[in-house]
Amino acid sequence: MQLRTIGGRPVSAIGLGGMPMSIEGRPDRERSIATIHAALDAGVTLIDTADAYHQFADEVGHNEELIAEALRSYGADTSGVLVATKGGSRRPGDGSWTQDGRPEYLKEAAKASAKRLGVDAVGLYQFHRPDPKVPFGDSVGAIRDLLDEGVIELAGISNANPDQIREANDILGGRLVSVQNQFSPRFRSSLPELELCAELGIAFLPWSPLGGISLARSGELGAEFSAFQEIADAHGVSPFRVTLAWELALAPVVVPIPGASRPESITDSAQATELTLTADEVARLSAV
Ligand SMILES: NC(=O)c1ccc[n+]([C@@H]2O[C@H](COP(=O)([O-])OP(=O)(O)OC[C@H]3O[C@@H](n4cnc5c(N)ncnc54)[C@H](OP(=O)(O)O)[C@@H]3O)[C@@H](O)[C@H]2O)c1
Repeated sequence: MQLRTIGGRPVSAIGLGGMPMSIEGRPDRERSIATIHAALDAGVTLIDTADAYHQFADEVGHNEELIAEALRSYGADTSGVLVATKGGSRRPGDGSWTQDGRPEYLKEAAKASAKRLGVDAVGLYQFHRPDPKVPFGDSVGAIRDLLDEGVIELAGISNANPDQIREANDILGGRLVSVQNQFSPRFRSSLPELELCAELGIAFLPWSPLGGISLARSGELGAEFSAFQEIADAHGVSPFRVTLAWELALAPVVVPIPGASRPESITDSAQATELTLTADEVARLSAV
C-alpha cells in the first residue's frame, strides 16, 4: 500500500469512506464490521466518517460507533489508523441533511465524536459543510479553538471553495491539513480546489470518488465513462481501480476515500495504489 500524508501523518493513499454502512441501504452490522476489517487487511489506515452518517434521528454517530467497534475487535494494532470525522451536518430522520455551523454546536459535537470514537482527541476533525446561516469564519474559529484546546489533533474542512480554503487556513494559522470535496469522473468542478490544495500542500480528499453510491453500485461507471472501461480492460482491472488511480495521479496531495459496504469493494479499491497509469492514459481520462 502506497502512503501519502495528511498534516504530516502517513496514511494509506486510498482511504475507506464509511457512509454506505450507515445511511439508507446499509448492510447489517456484521457485514459492516467485515468491510472495515477487510480495509485494514488491505493496509488502509485512513477511515472517513461523520457524526451525521446515520439514518434515523435517534442514532447520531452510528458510523463512528461502527468504526470504533471494528477497530477494537480487529485483533491487531490499529494505532496507526487515522479516523477522520466531521461535524456541522445533521440528519433529522426524514431523509434530509441540514447544516449547523454554530460554534457552540460544533464544540459539543466534536467532544461527542471523541467519546463515541473512544479517543482522548479526534485524529482529524472536518467542518462538514458551510452553514449559510453562520459566518464561515465563526464556524472555522470553533475548529481553531478545538485544535488549541487539544480536543482534535488535526483540522480539515469539506465542501469549500478556493476563497473558503484560504480563509480557513488563515483562521487556523496555517494549520488547515485537508479539504474534502466531491470529485469523480462525473463531477469535476472541484478541480480548482484540488489544484489549490496541491499548491498549498494541503491534502485533498475526493468524496464520492466513484461517482456516488448509486452510480457505483449500478455497475454503470464504465458504461457512462467508456475511456475508464477501456483502460480498465487494457490493464485487466476494474474501472473503479482505474478511476482511483487517475485521481491519485492528479496530484500527490490527493487521497480518495471510496465508500464500501462489502469487503470485496474496498479490497478491490485499495489495490488502485498498485496501478500506474501512463501519462497518456491520465491525459485521456482527464479530457473525457
Ligand atoms: N464531505 C461530504 O459532504 C461527503 C459527501 C458524501 C460522501 N462523503 C464521504 O465520501 C465517501 C465516498 O463517497 P460515497 O460512498 O458517497 O460514494 P463512492 O465512493 O463514489 O461510491 C461508493 C460505492 O461504491 C461501491 N464501490 C466502491 N469500490 C468499489 C469497487 N472497487 N468495486 C465495486 N464497487 C465499489 C460501493 O459499493 P458497496 O456498497 O456494494 O460496497 C459503495 O457503496 C463516503 O463514504 C463518505 O465517507 C463525504
